[in-house]
Amino acid sequence: MSELTNQIKEAVDFIRSKTKLKPEVALVLGSGLGETVSDILVDQEIDYASIPHFPVSTVIGHSGKLLLGSWNNKRVVVMQGRFHYYEGYSLQQVTFPIRVMKKLGAETIFITNASGGLNPDFKVGDLVAINDHINLNSDHPLRGKNEDELGTRFPDQHSVYDRAMIEKAKTIAENNNFKLQTGVYVGVTGPTFETPAEYKYMRIIGGDAVGMSTVPEVIVANHMGMKIFCVSVITDEGNPVVPQKVSHVDVVKAAKEAGPKMTLLLRELLQLI
Ligand code: HPA
Repeated sequence: MSELTNQIKEAVDFIRSKTKLKPEVALVLGSGLGETVSDILVDQEIDYASIPHFPVSTVIGHSGKLLLGSWNNKRVVVMQGRFHYYEGYSLQQVTFPIRVMKKLGAETIFITNASGGLNPDFKVGDLVAINDHINLNSDHPLRGKNEDELGTRFPDQHSVYDRAMIEKAKTIAENNNFKLQTGVYVGVTGPTFETPAEYKYMRIIGGDAVGMSTVPEVIVANHMGMKIFCVSVITDEGNPVVPQKVSHVDVVKAAKEAGPKMTLLLRELLQLI
């Protein structure tokens, strides 16, 4: 057994020693979105710090707990807070919990995040279902020896984002009188926000939104064959015509305000899978 698969096993065994609940769906809650599942029936709440080999999150707005329970009658495992490359972790560490959640049983993953809008039609507070990504991270979570037991050396990324779930999510939004945008997410490491020239560049290369998370998690989830749905809250507009200042406080505030819409969307989508 490799070191990575051994570490995954130790984390999984630890979590299973706390609860026998076998999750069907994994959820990752990003900046300001930790309350998305406030009405979950929690079976076990586990601090990241106590789980073997889990890194510990340090960013304001990220609480750092793994919840196992049921949400609308679906068994879920929820990451309340995630890890970022800019905090100093390797991408292998950043994506470790995704591997653990898959090994716990989750075949489907919902990933949320906050992002800057590049598409001029996107406004602060909009939800965007991600339908593709551009990876501008300078590192790769699958770099190094491939773990054949987890997935193939050269994973196909032709249809990473589940089309059927995106269509269902659009219908849910329509039925609840809000628009669900769709678009391409550009993944960067941060921690700087972009310069006006960078926002412009990202739009030119085909991006609709930009953020500092998600892409490494998605790469790893796809590597392991998970069904993926990602949704982003636009928290600032990286509009190259009128450059706007952006702060982490604004990002968390805008994400929190969009929380109820996010909750509704994820809860209803959960029922349809
Ligand atoms: N850029 C990068 N990451 C982000 C942004 C942004 O404008 N907004 C929220 N996360």
